[in-house]
Amino acid sequence: MHLNVKGLFHCFPSLTAAIDVLDDVQLEIQSGEFVSVLGPSGCGKSTLLNVISGLLTPTSGHLFIDDVEVPHAQSQVAYMQQKDLLLPWRRALPNAMLGAQLNKANLMDAETEARKLFEQFDLAGYEQHYPSELSGGMRQRVALVRTLLTHRPLWLLDEPFGALDALTRMRLQDWMLKAWENVQQSILMVTHDLDEALVLSDRIYILTPRPAHVHAVIKVSLPRPRDRMSVAFTEVKKELWDVLSEVLSKSD
Ligand SMILES: Nc1ncnc2c1ncn2[C@@H]1O[C@H](COP(=O)(O)OP(=O)(O)OP(=O)(O)O)[C@@H](O)[C@H]1O
Ligand SMILES: [Mg+2]
Repeated sequence: MHLNVKGLFHCFPSLTAAIDVLDDVQLEIQSGEFVSVLGPSGCGKSTLLNVISGLLTPTSGHLFIDDVEVPHAQSQVAYMQQKDLLLPWRRALPNAMLGAQLNKANLMDAETEARKLFEQFDLAGYEQHYPSELSGGMRQRVALVRTLLTHRPLWLLDEPFGALDALTRMRLQDWMLKAWENVQQSILMVTHDLDEALVLSDRIYILTPRPAHVHAVIKVSLPRPRDRMSVAFTEVKKELWDVLSEVLSKSD
């Protein structure tokens, strides 16, 4: 699925002063492309995903799916929000199967797939635990499984590995890469982690401090799987860091 976002503005009304959050954002995700978004905290990244997913109506702007204008991409996206939003009264496995259930998917197949993902995400044995009985990182992984099980053509992932330790994070990044290569999914992922963006993405959008505007787009042409320690990787990282430093100096 090809998503094109043009001239997106968003402003939250407020009794005192309105808050401008998105300022003429242009963004594109080609079919099967892995795109990341990096930007200072509070700049408007989650707001951007909320608008694309249809949770929020933008002040103005245009969204196109495969060149057809749409109000939002709700029916096409699987959205993993920054907060894990697991239902506290549902056990882990039924929580993970929620999207599949809402999609009226075959529940037997969904359960088989969910159990397989629980194994791969080190959640086996926790299927019948309530969210309150899981760690933050485990809840995040259940939420990720739930997102993957909805089988929509575009994944919107808001810091999907944010609450994980470095090793689990790297392992799940590798897993995500394999999953993406198998299904050629379109992915838009928000992250704070430069290495994560560089290991996974075809292109990286760098946003300015609020109101978010696209400051730069960096294409990552390194062949996959990418060696985090290679000279070529470090060179692109330096380029990315230089651009981010420009952006961060604006927020001083
Ligand atoms: N519902 C809302 N009403 C009013 N202001 C909001 C609302 N949601 C977000 N904001 C404001 O919009 C700005 C951008 O918020 P957003 O959550 O999009 O940032 P972010 O880039 O995702 O930040 P982080 O990296 O910390 O997750 C912030 O100043 C926030 O206070
Ligand atoms: Mg956010």
